[in-house]
Amino acid sequence: MHPMQQAFIDADAFQCGYCTPGQIMSAIALLEEDHAHSREEIREFMSGNLCRCGAYNGIVEAIEHVIAQQDQDSKGEAA
Ligand code: FES
Repeated sequence: MHPMQQAFIDADAFQCGYCTPGQIMSAIALLEEDHAHSREEIREFMSGNLCRCGAYNGIVEAIEHVIAQQDQDSKGEAA
């Protein structure tokens, strides 16, 4: 399982079966394209995945969790 999938589970960040895969793919792209420097930047980048339902706080929380994990992993590799 990708760390972002696990983070979505942990943050209860699920939307419907159509939206959730798109949110997860966008979240991974956000990290790979280095757009996650602030909560506002995360919200702006993810704003293309909108619907009437809303787990948006959980989604941002999941993304921030993966960013924190990656930061911690990179610090461990540098030491
Ligand atoms: S969560 Fe998919 S349409 Fe709202």
